Amino acid sequence: MTSQDFSFDIGVIGGCGHVGLPFALLVASKQQKVLVYDINESAVRQVRAGKMPFFEEGADALLASNLAAGSLDCTTDPSALAKCRILVLIVGTPVDEHLNPSFDAIPRALERCLPYLRDEQILVLRSTVYPGTSSKVRQWLLDRGLKTCVTFCPERVAEGHSLREFSELPQIVSAFDERGLRAVQDLFRLMTDEIVVMPPKEAELAKLLTNAWRYIQFATVNQFYTIAEGHGLDFNRILQGSKYKYPRLAGMPGPGFAAGPCLFKDTMQLAAFSQNQFFLGHAAMLVNEGLPAFVVERLAQKMPLADKTVGILGMAFKAESDDPRSSLSYKLRKVLNLQARRTLCTDPFVQDPSLVTLEQVLAEADAIVVGTPHKAYRDLKIRPGVAVVDVWNVLDYTSPA
Ligand SMILES: NC(=O)c1ccc[n+]([C@@H]2O[C@H](COP(=O)([O-])OP(=O)(O)OC[C@H]3O[C@@H](n4cnc5c(N)ncnc54)[C@H](O)[C@@H]3O)[C@@H](O)[C@H]2O)c1
Repeated sequence: MTSQDFSFDIGVIGGCGHVGLPFALLVASKQQKVLVYDINESAVRQVRAGKMPFFEEGADALLASNLAAGSLDCTTDPSALAKCRILVLIVGTPVDEHLNPSFDAIPRALERCLPYLRDEQILVLRSTVYPGTSSKVRQWLLDRGLKTCVTFCPERVAEGHSLREFSELPQIVSAFDERGLRAVQDLFRLMTDEIVVMPPKEAELAKLLTNAWRYIQFATVNQFYTIAEGHGLDFNRILQGSKYKYPRLAGMPGPGFAAGPCLFKDTMQLAAFSQNQFFLGHAAMLVNEGLPAFVVERLAQKMPLADKTVGILGMAFKAESDDPRSSLSYKLRKVLNLQARRTLCTDPFVQDPSLVTLEQVLAEADAIVVGTPHKAYRDLKIRPGVAVVDVWNVLDYTSPA
């Protein structure tokens, strides 16, 4: 096969995912012919029908216009990948049950594609990976007789806002040779002129550091929260007062459940990379993952829970998102299930048959915990006598008697 035989500019492996699909939509809108390949049949069906499988700001319109323009195709058939000049791989890369990085996800994804990979193609790894993975993938391909050019370009967008952030954020790119570097520079110049070049292992580490930094920042504030609230003090009043016209605290986030599909697992990948000497990372994990239990303890101090119904407002891992992956609201529910008579959970965006309506929670709960700071919760009317724990300080309600 020669490069003239490539009928797609780009093929996205894992292209129906939270990162893969926005990426595919954006490049398809830049005069590129894009193939989305994914093993999730229902997601592929939805995308083909013009329906986004999850919420992403601005994506519905872009999907519709790409489909109408014929610049986007979507399939579960890996053979179509043989027709793509550049392959961008963006499958999930979780840590295992021992919180260690797993090297399986990418080879597993590539295994099915193997018969359709070509020496002439460029493979862009865009998943977040343990440092050294790109080199291992390159060797894995060479061992199978393939000289496909391997590159690594980490994804740093905030889920839900990818389309906007793609053109706002510089792109870190890396490759093992000139051919790969040229190809990824050209690819990401479709989105931005701000390109940062690093060797692959440094680019892999850069991405882990980025997420671990955020995770530690959230943990620091969460620990401040537990210290203040543990002494019966109002942490949010302290925070607002301390930050008021004080520039050195300007970037300090508020407290809240720090979770989701990336921050925790990437911090654990970095811990493994440091031979488990990353004490700050492990401490951050203990603080962030311990917050639901702290919140339940606070609630239990306000009222004995054994005969009470507790409501959780918000199950997504962050505000205005429909993504419940690794959300601490679910951990909160587990802790509450052990202590309360009944736990009722609600979320305006998350699709989960175990959830109930907001009205039911407000009508039946004796106590309420805010799990996710969705905007919809800002002006709630909460019945007098209902105990409330609002770590996020999102509720703007008249305090009950
Ligand atoms: N979600 C985020 O905000 C975010 C941000 C930056 C980086 N990342 C990184 O991006 C990567 C993907 O994350 P995500 O949130 O998009 O995950 P995701 O689960 O939403 O998407 C992964 C997609 O890959 C598909 N897939 C799985 N195995 C496959 C295979 N063998 N062949 C083809 N498709 C396959 C899945 O069906 C799914 O659609 C992870 O490494 C993550 O750490 C995520």
